[in-house]
Amino acid sequence: MTDPRTTDLHQHAERLRGTTLRALFADDPERAERFSVSAADLHLDCSKQLLDAPALDALLELARERGLAERITAMFAGEHVNTTEDRAVLHTALRRPPGEPLVVDGQDVAAEVEAVLVRMSAFAERVRSGDWTGATGRTITHVVNIGIGGSDLGPRMVVRALRHWTDPSLQVRFVANVDGADLEAALDGLDPARTLFVVCSKTFTTAETLANAAAARSWLVDALGADGGDGAVAQHFVAVSTNADEVRAFGIDADNMFGFWDWVGGRYSLTSAVGLSIMLGVGPERFRELLAGFAQVDEHFRTAPVEANLPVLLALVGYWNREVLDHATLAVLPYAQDLELLPAYLQQLDMESNGKRVRRDGTPVAGQTGPIVWGQPGTNGQHAFYQLLHQGTTVVPCDFLAFSQPLSRFADQHDVLMANCFAQSQALAFGRTQEEVEASGVDAALAPHRTFPGDRPSSTLLAAELSPRTLGQIVAVYEHKVLVQGVLWDVNSFDQWGVELGKTLATALQARLDGSGNGDDSDLDGSTRRLLELYRAGR
Ligand code: F6P
Repeated sequence: MTDPRTTDLHQHAERLRGTTLRALFADDPERAERFSVSAADLHLDCSKQLLDAPALDALLELARERGLAERITAMFAGEHVNTTEDRAVLHTALRRPPGEPLVVDGQDVAAEVEAVLVRMSAFAERVRSGDWTGATGRTITHVVNIGIGGSDLGPRMVVRALRHWTDPSLQVRFVANVDGADLEAALDGLDPARTLFVVCSKTFTTAETLANAAAARSWLVDALGADGGDGAVAQHFVAVSTNADEVRAFGIDADNMFGFWDWVGGRYSLTSAVGLSIMLGVGPERFRELLAGFAQVDEHFRTAPVEANLPVLLALVGYWNREVLDHATLAVLPYAQDLELLPAYLQQLDMESNGKRVRRDGTPVAGQTGPIVWGQPGTNGQHAFYQLLHQGTTVVPCDFLAFSQPLSRFADQHDVLMANCFAQSQALAFGRTQEEVEASGVDAALAPHRTFPGDRPSSTLLAAELSPRTLGQIVAVYEHKVLVQGVLWDVNSFDQWGVELGKTLATALQARLDGSGNGDDSDLDGSTRRLLELYRAGR
């Protein structure tokens, strides 16, 4: 099924059928420059994507027709672009340079943002300096962030990515899964007297987070006993939320709560107070650098013309691959071990945003929407799934992320790492023909096995180094890419109703499992009934 509004693009795809990347590069010596954009400290090379200048022009035209520029302006201005929840979408307001007011719905949100940042910084400094102590007077050595989805993946990914800026005397751990094994592993070896929990939940009603937070509270209170008792909660628990009532109901003092606003979507929230664990890990100064990186790309995205706009280019080639060439997935392949959690972070960002089947007006989309995002750091993936990328029957577009500077003290290995990164995109794009294989002396019978078809599209995002600033830039690029693609598909990228049904059904099934229901499963479908029966038998 194709979207009739993309007929023009499909005609370009038809025209390009049979064209090879070898031919496209041979025909245009300027191709690498023509299909690259730089912004802030990032360079994006999309020249190994299977499209030419007229096809890219058609994509740019489509973006104009769909009102991309107006939609970007509307988002930055705080209009209620999240239509199904009637909310502004203002994560960009979280990282604007301080001092510039931004009035939305009658409130100067910039001033509110700055006030929270100042409180977060003061708190982080107290914990990091040892001024903030636990209930028994001991300094904090471990922070445990309890949250899930957007209240986990962003801070977890950033703390991992900025390992070099963290201080070993204050470690940050993360718990997300309601599986008690996750909490158990996170608490392993921790001294309750020196542990601080950050309960992070926009709604403060998320079942997984509340279960983990309650279990952590019992663990703490049981351990501190007479020394701390129930009063220990005040010294060992802080909250990040938009829901002050629920935070209080949990037993956390409003003084120990860091707020944000309903105009910050969970998966767009790492630059809000949700980043408190990041700030505790790397310090307020580095956190501000991270924000500054975001702000640089925000400004570029807001002001650069579409044809020279880095997130727009990344979005257009992604749209081309998904909508026009029908490639279902996108592999994100960071050649930086410290970015090992980036694919998981981008999974939520992209798939929760654009994994939609109806347009903003509620009518079904005619073509595709967001891709399945997945990935692993290079070079590990090369020894696992790249076989399929090179020779499998499914074409998987790839985003490579590369850095000129090594981050580890084993710097000699960096050239090896980067040579692999560049070689992979080369091999995917240009392959090796059967004739070339045979000419290299390979037996004719083996030649088909050793042939690489090539023409497998990829982009490469290159920066000088992985730093708080460039990390902010990279994440902002992907946030805005998702917005652009949402505009092209005309979906609301800022709601997530698709997660609700499973939550409702789980609550109902939980009552059957914990015995609080009436014990009658006859109303269930046969499969679920049998699974519950076997589960109970094995319990
Ligand atoms: O279930 C999905 C979701 O709502 C995400 O969008 C969100 O990031 C996550 O749950 C956690 O929500 P909260 O921060 O409210 O606990």
